[in-house]
Amino acid sequence: MSYLTHIENAAGKHLDSGTTHSAPPTDRLRARYDLERIRREVTVETIARGPASLWRYAPLLPVARPEDAVSLNEGWTPLLQTPRLARALGMKQLMVKDEGRNPSGTFKDRGASVAVSRYVELGVKTVSHNSSGNAGGSWSLYAARAGITCVNLLPTDAQPASRQHCRASGQPTFLLENWHDGGRLIAEACEKNGWLNICTLREPYRLEGKKTMGLEIAEQLGWRMPDAIVYPMGGGLGAIAIFKAFEELLQLGWIKGKLPRLYITQYEGCAPLVKAWDEGRNECTPWGKIDIPPGGLKSPNPPGGPAVLELIRKHGGGAVTATADEALAAVDEMAREEGLFPCPESATILVGLRKAIAKGWIKTDEEVVLISTGSAVKSIPTLEASRFPTVTASTEMRI
Ligand SMILES: Cc1ncc(COP(=O)(O)O)c(C=O)c1O
Repeated sequence: MSYLTHIENAAGKHLDSGTTHSAPPTDRLRARYDLERIRREVTVETIARGPASLWRYAPLLPVARPEDAVSLNEGWTPLLQTPRLARALGMKQLMVKDEGRNPSGTFKDRGASVAVSRYVELGVKTVSHNSSGNAGGSWSLYAARAGITCVNLLPTDAQPASRQHCRASGQPTFLLENWHDGGRLIAEACEKNGWLNICTLREPYRLEGKKTMGLEIAEQLGWRMPDAIVYPMGGGLGAIAIFKAFEELLQLGWIKGKLPRLYITQYEGCAPLVKAWDEGRNECTPWGKIDIPPGGLKSPNPPGGPAVLELIRKHGGGAVTATADEALAAVDEMAREEGLFPCPESATILVGLRKAIAKGWIKTDEEVVLISTGSAVKSIPTLEASRFPTVTASTEMRI
């Protein structure tokens, strides 16, 4: 069962959770639960007995019949200790939440599974969004599993793996050259065709899915908080979701004390949040020319900008950029040192952590969680080519 009571907007108005809502991100549509009742009826022990997927948190999710969820067993990804990376950074320890383990290779599966499950319950037949690629691929697979339609708008440079997810699952997909127009095109197409607009932070349920990252971090640490989280931000949904989880856990009394500081990383070629943070502003100004590798973080006007800036101000933290070369070198460093294989946009977290330590923002004895949002299996064409010699005899195999 779900303890969902209503959807709340920025003005504090309660909206009916039995119907769909899609509004500008400034409306801040958020799912609210009967936390008092959860506190009485659910315990951390009940959660621990749940499935090894994000559905262990069903009481804190909006889906009325979790037993019928549209699931590919997403979530419950490992929080890995990375001692060699920690040593390289002069840290006592360092943890990486490896979201590349999700079914389509990124954390987008969390939002897709929970939101698609809820929309099936609400009778939605067609959803639509613009996505730099990973969400498009993920939603396509979950829509196919649910028997609904997801109309995708991807940039022309979207990674082949994401395009293949869309193609193979038979979901209608379109490419757009000028990415700044993406949100407007979707809004118009949804209005004309009656599709549900599920773009970042326009509806409340993707956030609920991504919230489970925060729930998992708390549970995997024994229901306590780290000192800092480092998150590679595009639209900002994931960071906002992680902190919504922490706030709910505080209200439930399942965690206590101070929430972690939030550090954001973005590519230097599209860094509206970092710029706003550096300039001390409360909102982002739209980024001009986008110059980043294909994949996530292509969000020139992040819908979650103001909310993420608020989180950094409230809990402490900061924002830094990584160049594409730094990110690619960090992919290799994470693979070489720890056997991890993050996509370049995720690897910006390691670059960001190093810079945050150099600036004195993060101390080397602090407990830090890096959110590695996706796998480099989704980014092969962007990585340095492997040039291995072809051999014909074992004598040629010298190392
Ligand atoms: C791999 C990856 N990491 C991070 C992000 C950023 O996510 P969010 O929009 O939640 O900030 C995206 C999406 O653009 C992504 O695909």
